[in-house]
Amino acid sequence: MDKIVVEGGGRLVGSISISGAKNAALPILAASILPSGPSTFKNVPQLQDVATMAKLLRRLGGEVDGKKTMVVHPPHGRKLKLEAPYELVKTMRASVLVLGPLVARFGKARVSQPGGCAIGTRPIDQHLRGLEAMGAKIHLDHGYVDVECKRLRGATIVLDMPTVTGCENLMMAAALAKGRTVIENAAREPEVEDLALLLNKMGARVQGAGTAIITIDGVDELQPVEHTIIADRIEAGTFAVAAAVTRGDVLLEGAQAEHMDAMLAKLRGAGVTVTVERGGVRVRGGGDLRPVDITTQPHPGFPTDMQAQFMMMATQARGESMIKETIFENRFMHVPELARMGADIHTDGRVAVIRGPRKLTGAPVMATDLRASASLVIAGLVASGKTEVLRVYHLDRGYEAIEKKLRGVGAKIKRVKA
Ligand code: UD1
Repeated sequence: MDKIVVEGGGRLVGSISISGAKNAALPILAASILPSGPSTFKNVPQLQDVATMAKLLRRLGGEVDGKKTMVVHPPHGRKLKLEAPYELVKTMRASVLVLGPLVARFGKARVSQPGGCAIGTRPIDQHLRGLEAMGAKIHLDHGYVDVECKRLRGATIVLDMPTVTGCENLMMAAALAKGRTVIENAAREPEVEDLALLLNKMGARVQGAGTAIITIDGVDELQPVEHTIIADRIEAGTFAVAAAVTRGDVLLEGAQAEHMDAMLAKLRGAGVTVTVERGGVRVRGGGDLRPVDITTQPHPGFPTDMQAQFMMMATQARGESMIKETIFENRFMHVPELARMGADIHTDGRVAVIRGPRKLTGAPVMATDLRASASLVIAGLVASGKTEVLRVYHLDRGYEAIEKKLRGVGAKIKRVKA
């Protein structure tokens, strides 16, 4: 297996081009199932998760061509197969995003039930409850969910929590349902808004995306479109933290500051200089970092996907920081690895207390999820000596060419092929 080797110590200076958002690309690629012709997507990030979604779309009988610009012919004809198999869902939970579009367009679908994952149990009960409210019959057997409904009908759905992919699945299903669907306690993430924009270009009638109530008036058919995916706010935030902890000066080219309010506020609170420029967001570290007090929340609150990176930053701040994780129950796997590099972190349930600043020393480390792995790469940038981050496949799921982008701003980092 590949590993990433980092020599710590240098400042990051220059600019990094931010890729398209993984979490926008995945639902948008799934939405390509809704019209009957091919759609074109631009600014698609080159990631393992995107490759998995492309593989799934092909498995369903679709055709996928291109990379950064992707043309997707939806499943049709004799190759049509309405099943998302276990082998794909187990490698990427977001595979479940094809459920809503398949049922809406073809009247049924069979999707492997995602099991637990490293960061928690992550059920899909809200996705299923919503589809049931829209008239679908749901049957669970042999680890699969079978969903069937000739034509979904609009319903009022109150989500128990603002689940991101759950909300997206239901929006896509409702776009072709008969009548009006209202999703209350909806997710407000920018990626949900990007999906709504795409659906409306296709001819759907979605209102309120970005707020807690989304209304969808179903239509009989949707048209293929061309769409450019928004910038990845989590990738941008990750590099922002890397710039801050190395006392660097980095322009995050193409980053959309309006999607990053909570994390930029926390960076500024930590003493980092953040300026919004025409080409993106500039982040400058310099003086001593101040401690942070963070609770992860659904958007517009502080994103759970930035928690591990900010915890790494807190190890370099003068004083005591506190980080509370409220979205996932088991998302502190980076803690023992950071501790092995010299961090002082105590956890109690969902709360972590971090005391700094601590000198970190390089070590071989590994993590069991994507963002935790990113926090270890950043730790390697400030640690003395050599850090080896193992299990690079986690990083490849969600960061496009992370080592190349960091090398471009002066980091001593390389990938060592197995
Ligand atoms: C999405 C993001 C992921 C991010 C997460 C939280 C994508 C592809 N992934 O994941 O990067 O970390 O949002 O911002 O967009 N829940 C239920 N029942 C459900 C659905 C969710 O109990 O049916 C719970 C989950 O276990 C979790 C919480 O709701 O505790 C939020 O999860 P959710 O928003 O669904 O995360 P994902 O959409 O899977």
